[in-house]
Amino acid sequence: MAIGVFDSGIGGLTVASAIKQHHPNQQIIYFGDTAHLPYGEKSADHIKRYIKAISAFLFSNGCDQLVVACNSASSVLDDMEALPNFSSITNVIDPVINAIQKHRTIKRVGVIGTKRTIDSGVYVERLKARRPDLEVHTLATPLLAPMIEEGFIRNDIAKHTIHEYLSELPEVDALILGCTHYPLIKNEINAFFGGDVQLFDAPELVAQSLHVNQANNSKDGVDVFYVSDHTSSFEETAHRFFGSSLRLRKSDLFEY
Ligand code: DGL
Repeated sequence: MAIGVFDSGIGGLTVASAIKQHHPNQQIIYFGDTAHLPYGEKSADHIKRYIKAISAFLFSNGCDQLVVACNSASSVLDDMEALPNFSSITNVIDPVINAIQKHRTIKRVGVIGTKRTIDSGVYVERLKARRPDLEVHTLATPLLAPMIEEGFIRNDIAKHTIHEYLSELPEVDALILGCTHYPLIKNEINAFFGGDVQLFDAPELVAQSLHVNQANNSKDGVDVFYVSDHTSSFEETAHRFFGSSLRLRKSDLFEY
């Protein structure tokens, strides 16, 4: 049995890679839904359809745990009908909320994410439920995920885009990177704030909170990476995280 991890593209690889570091013997089956990227611009109904299809695919390919490594997808999970019978389904939002709750010195928190995630109000709702005293400022930053997917990380366009967006935020003590693509520009975001704002993102927190079924802890499984459309940026990032021997498989799940 394996852990199924999915995202619209390369963002979820940041989560899969952290899971691998914590659980090196755990087989991962990854699905990057590159044909439908960016999820952040899609309606909740569309994203729910993708989640249904991908989770059924991962379940039928031997996954018994599911990690929804995408904030936009995690933000619509609660109002979905039953998914396949996984022993656990982990989203990328709650582990971050739990971490913020423990930092009592944080009084003002910013959240950046896709339009879908920010418009869902999920971060404000869950943060306020735990810490009514928190001042929460949210900001949709829709160009960031496609920019990162395109490999624009350390060039001038990336620098200006990050600057343009983050200048809109009021002063905060902490910032939640509410999209799994954003850890790939964490250094650049940190540089914008001059290191003065504490950054929270999902990969490490999700990997720490995941209780892997011990039956899955075997050295036999080889990680498998599916994409719904082949893109060179996905391949490059997958190689960076998981080594150059990795071969991508093109899934025909969404071929009509
Ligand atoms: N990585 C995703 C997220 O966490 C999705 C980005 C996108 O496809 O818009 O929201």
